[in-house]
Amino acid sequence: MCGIVGYAGPQAASPQAPSSRPLDVVLQGLARLEYRGYDSAGIAVVDEQVRVTKRSGKLKNLREALEATDTDARQTADARQTADAGQTTGAEQVADTGAGMAADTRARQAAGAGQVADAATKQALGTTHGGVAIGHTRWATHGAPTDTNAHPHRGGRDGELAVVHNGIIENFAQLRADLAADGFVFVSETDSEVAAHLLAREVEQTGDLTEAMRATTARLEGAFTLLAVHRDQPGTVVAARRNSPLVVGLGEGENFLGSDVAAFVDSTKEALEIDQDQIVTVTADSVRVIETDGTEVPDPKRFRIEWDVAAAQKGGYPSFMAKEIHEQAGALADTLLGRLVDGTLQLDERDIDESVLRSIDKIVVIACGTAANAGAVVKYAIEHWCRIPVEVELAHEFRYRDPVVTEKTLVVAISQSGETMDTLMAVRHAREQGAKVIAICNTRGSTIPREADAALYLYVGPEIAVASTKAYLGQIAACYLLGLYLAQVRGNLFPEEIAEIMEDLQSIPEKIQRVLDDSAQVEQLAQSMQDATSVLFLGRHVGYPTAMEGALKLKEIAYIHAEGFAAGELKHGPIALIEEGQPVFVIVPSPRGRDVLHSKLISNIQEIRARGARTLVIAEEGDEDVLPYADEVIRVPATRTLFAALLTVIPLQIFACELATAKGLDVDQPRNLAKSVTVE
Ligand code: M6R
Repeated sequence: MCGIVGYAGPQAASPQAPSSRPLDVVLQGLARLEYRGYDSAGIAVVDEQVRVTKRSGKLKNLREALEATDTDARQTADARQTADAGQTTGAEQVADTGAGMAADTRARQAAGAGQVADAATKQALGTTHGGVAIGHTRWATHGAPTDTNAHPHRGGRDGELAVVHNGIIENFAQLRADLAADGFVFVSETDSEVAAHLLAREVEQTGDLTEAMRATTARLEGAFTLLAVHRDQPGTVVAARRNSPLVVGLGEGENFLGSDVAAFVDSTKEALEIDQDQIVTVTADSVRVIETDGTEVPDPKRFRIEWDVAAAQKGGYPSFMAKEIHEQAGALADTLLGRLVDGTLQLDERDIDESVLRSIDKIVVIACGTAANAGAVVKYAIEHWCRIPVEVELAHEFRYRDPVVTEKTLVVAISQSGETMDTLMAVRHAREQGAKVIAICNTRGSTIPREADAALYLYVGPEIAVASTKAYLGQIAACYLLGLYLAQVRGNLFPEEIAEIMEDLQSIPEKIQRVLDDSAQVEQLAQSMQDATSVLFLGRHVGYPTAMEGALKLKEIAYIHAEGFAAGELKHGPIALIEEGQPVFVIVPSPRGRDVLHSKLISNIQEIRARGARTLVIAEEGDEDVLPYADEVIRVPATRTLFAALLTVIPLQIFACELATAKGLDVDQPRNLAKSVTVE
């Protein structure tokens, strides 16, 4: 879940002409990766020594610590000048304490916990003449979110090495005992610190950080991306990955490492994929990739980053979530762009023979959270168009229940990040059973599309807010494209039918924009409901997963109890929750098309209203039938029943975002959550 950034640039010409570039790059990268975890943040920069600063809490705490360090450094410099003039000051003593790693090690051992390494950072980190830095933003697994448990972790008998880690080292207890017996001192409760000491011990033996990384990864079990720097190799960052993401950014005279490309998107658009169990050694002007057995990887896969920096900034909105909601019309247009070539639908990357697609007898959609809700929407469309049974399952449930999967099963793995561990493990399990896997993903270079047989990307741009919005729409639209593609390959629909459906789909972005332009009513509703303690959501057909998604949004960012139900299920239990004034959003399908759905839902509204519910009805423009039973009607443009899911969810996203904002909550970084869930 954590975010990792690494940078290797040129050394400053001299200590008298220092550079703040390593620190700046890493801090900017961490700011863009903070969505991956915000329990703590830290950095290490290297010149003659490894300097570490880290703080629990959000990145701003680290920034404040660094600013304070700068102030100390300035005072120290002033004091030095004074001392040069013949006076000794306390400030100079602070600088002396910070100069030696041995002092730092003693400080750490004495402290055991607490303000680790700050003594060593009472110098201006922003003015180092070294060219290398690593940084980390944490989502805590082993050990509470304290300063001590924050990354980077030092390794070695003299604190000569620093490591940042994403993932979980499963055999850490045994390794820790071994290292402790060898005299290595542990100060944190983390599993990551064993990697730091293991690496340092291997450097003692081999004298080389890359060789040390090879030996270390051979001893680690579990999931990791590791970035390491060492005092004795001051121009180098060495990284490794297993079951956890890592990409390299290629610059001019500088190179970058990151958990994803957002880490360095403002510095370069050229990137390399790093595969499972590979090790990469990065300096200012070289990138070398090897397998863990030492074999060179001569031609690592290069790709171009499509995202721009503006996409990773708020652009005047109060939150990333608000911005991402409001850019959904353009985002969806991008998902759909250029898909129909000469009347034939195109996937992005494909290594599945059409004859295989013709032979499949079942589709299983695997995903988690919002992506699973998207999967639940598209089941209706794919079954309708392709006449193949579609099962939708939470990836973690699928993986551990011995599912029936054969060579005739097509697995569709939906993941915005492409790194969700539950989904990745389910993908691997499905492939082991012989199934073909298509990834529906937003993040290029991520693991799930790389391990799948085919990929279809969302092209909605980076999604920074933890709560998924534009990716949800992109996932639905991409799966619709996949459904139409399968219908095309299998001959379930005539080309003219596909063209007609595509034409309707292409009209959705303009309709999304209309919903967004009319958001004032929902915003006011949200502001008036700040004190709500429970909100229910009802729907049928694609309105059912929409209800689930509306409830998920409200839970995760506004911390309000919320549940989404299939409206037909009400009478089987949930209606007991209805009491006077209970707010219930009801997603009403189009009165045209599947009439029966509409009339059934009108009955359901009457049932809850008769029991005191406050009905907040989302209905198509011109649907007069809802008026007698609605306390509030929120209108969306008319469209096909299947495509309504791309419109009716938007008022629910706005409602959650506005309500959480009105409550003064951190909309983009809700408590306990992280954007990419890279642990099972
Ligand atoms: O990156 P993914 O799409 O695989 O993420 C899956 C879920 O963790 C994610 O959708 C999560 O539920 C969001 N926070 C929901 O807003």
